[in-house]
Amino acid sequence: MALVTGNEILQHAKQNGYAVCAFNVENMEMVQAVVEAAEETDSPVIIQTSANTVKYANMDYYYAMVEAALKHAKVPVALHLDHGDSTELALQAIRAGYTSVMIDASKLSFEENIKQTKAVVDLCQPIGVSTEAELGNVGGKPGDEDFGASGYTKPLEAKEFIERTCVSSLAVAIGTAHGVYKGEPNLDLTLLDELSKTVDVPLVLHGASGLSENDVKQCIENGISKINYATELRIMFTESVKEYFDTETSFVDPKKFMAYARTKVKELAKEKMYTCGSNGKASTFH
Ligand code: G3H
Ligand code: ZN
Repeated sequence: MALVTGNEILQHAKQNGYAVCAFNVENMEMVQAVVEAAEETDSPVIIQTSANTVKYANMDYYYAMVEAALKHAKVPVALHLDHGDSTELALQAIRAGYTSVMIDASKLSFEENIKQTKAVVDLCQPIGVSTEAELGNVGGKPGDEDFGASGYTKPLEAKEFIERTCVSSLAVAIGTAHGVYKGEPNLDLTLLDELSKTVDVPLVLHGASGLSENDVKQCIENGISKINYATELRIMFTESVKEYFDTETSFVDPKKFMAYARTKVKELAKEKMYTCGSNGKASTFH
């Protein structure tokens, strides 16, 4: 199946009360793991690469790997640029064939965030590429300041932001953070519910690694349609490789440990798909 747009999947998720998993991939094995997990659970899925990942290998590589993985797949898959930080990067993603683009200007002022988001929407909308922006401070990345609840997304600002940018989905700050949680995350589900009632576009949850199954389900019940997982997959891949090296010593073929890590990431991706309720939804698409 050919790639679909992010928005097609997000609208389907919003209408059918589930969330699509959006997994950050780093290499071919992670692309294969995610697509196989989606096929085995009949789940629509979003594969995404962060701005840092596409510095490591450019977007043409990731596009080609995803395209190859989809040749015999039946589930709907979108390819998304995660945390893009400029119009130039958005343009590169469009040229590479990505079907969804995030512009993250959330660290800038409200007006500057609107300006940069609108510029990317103006590039993407006419050619049917979906867009995601972020409003509020999710944080958690090295160097990020912790604004606490004062950095959470404000419903009226979100409404104005959507009206002025026409962005097709919005990442919101409600208490999650990127990376490994130091304490218990404290999610503001009342705020999330208010946000979902104030804006029409699908809402996106960043920083889902480390959230409990119950937290994820509550977020979906209160209006989240896309859930981003990066750190947990990276940890699973790397720990599996280490584990393989701890138990096996007499091998020279990299395929051995890469295949082991691929299987482990696939199992994790399937688990997340069941948690998000996307299993069984691909066959109801279109
Ligand atoms: O954009 C990617 C995510 O928000 C992933 O967050 O690394 O905490 O899973 P995570
Ligand atoms: Zn994120």
